[in-house]
Amino acid sequence: MYLTEEEQRMLEGEEGYAVRKSMEILVALGDIYGAKSLIKVGSVQVAGVSYHNLGDAGLEFLNELAKDGRVKVLTTLNPAGMDLENWQQLGIGKEFAEKQNLVIEAFSRMGILVSCTCTPYLIGNLPRYGEHIAWSESSAVTFANSVIGAKTNREGGPSALAAAFVGKTPCYGLHLDENRFPDIHVQVDAKLGKLSDWGALGYSIGKKAENRIPYITGINDAELDELKSFCASVVTYGSKPLFYMRGITPGAENYTAPSETVVIGQNDIKEAYDNINDEVSDIDFVCIGCPHCSIKEIAQIAEQLKDRKIIEKTEFWVATSRSAKQLADKRGYTNVIEKAGGKFACDTCMAVAPLKGRFKALATTSAKGCFYSRQNDMKTKMGSIEECIEAAVTGKWNLKEE
Ligand code: F3S
Repeated sequence: MYLTEEEQRMLEGEEGYAVRKSMEILVALGDIYGAKSLIKVGSVQVAGVSYHNLGDAGLEFLNELAKDGRVKVLTTLNPAGMDLENWQQLGIGKEFAEKQNLVIEAFSRMGILVSCTCTPYLIGNLPRYGEHIAWSESSAVTFANSVIGAKTNREGGPSALAAAFVGKTPCYGLHLDENRFPDIHVQVDAKLGKLSDWGALGYSIGKKAENRIPYITGINDAELDELKSFCASVVTYGSKPLFYMRGITPGAENYTAPSETVVIGQNDIKEAYDNINDEVSDIDFVCIGCPHCSIKEIAQIAEQLKDRKIIEKTEFWVATSRSAKQLADKRGYTNVIEKAGGKFACDTCMAVAPLKGRFKALATTSAKGCFYSRQNDMKTKMGSIEECIEAAVTGKWNLKEE
């Protein structure tokens, strides 16, 4: 890979340890993927924040980098393993909290914004159309590429950090226009009524697209929360972190539908629910906010929970960014949700918090949330916000369609 004189000097250590290490990572990646050069990035989003996933080895790696590593561009963080303020309320142990705080301190010393959210685009890290960025959270990468029209590969935690210290990333993969052509036409012929239907659609398309870029037709309208949910699901279940939705997402008008066509009908949506939902009726954990809740979703939850009471045996989490929670505080939604017995899980989520063995059965709006919760040995049920709240107040899953 070609390096400028300045980049060469960084590789030789002129800017210190963290930049040298970062250049080694970026050059190795560039060589593996055949990048011709590095390209400047406008922002970075770093995943791999939970101590649950990092362990002591990860913490040590971050502390080494934090000695002299300072980010060169706006850099935000993915969710951590706990709510950084109210971890006790969420049942997180003291030992875990201490380690997680050390992780956050290391990131903070690097100059990274301690945002701890998978929806950075809702809290101010909003790239421009066509801008090159280096993000790592898969749902955010898919949203950035497809809904915003920015350009990013799905970075790993270390390669995103390296891009932050250098301000550049190797120019390969989805940074190149020639790799952004759609390669399968997906015609949607199904009714999408509730938020979780978008997760089911993502499941179906992800499975059919199999590491390809879908060009989706047949959808006339989509709200931000629906696209957010779809992005998380489609990439979790198999597609590349980029899609085009004709008439909805930017850039779709530049392409025509590829000749290979698959049709997604109502049966496919039903089949997705059948695969995501387990045989279980007692629910002891309800979590809404995968990806992190927008303020609009929090308002819907508050509206549904007004004058109701969550059953004692069921834990209810609203996973969101601290910024969205602050807005919810001001608008009175927090009060309503907490009065009903719900808890805010800011800075964290059901996938990266240490939940293994704690709950038996989850109800959620999110197909991606179900995927990761199964890895935490939970049975899963997916439905609308209303259905999840019904499960929270009764402790039972009682979906009418089943
Ligand atoms: Fe976000 Fe966690 Fe879901 S990172 S997309 S809430 S699994």
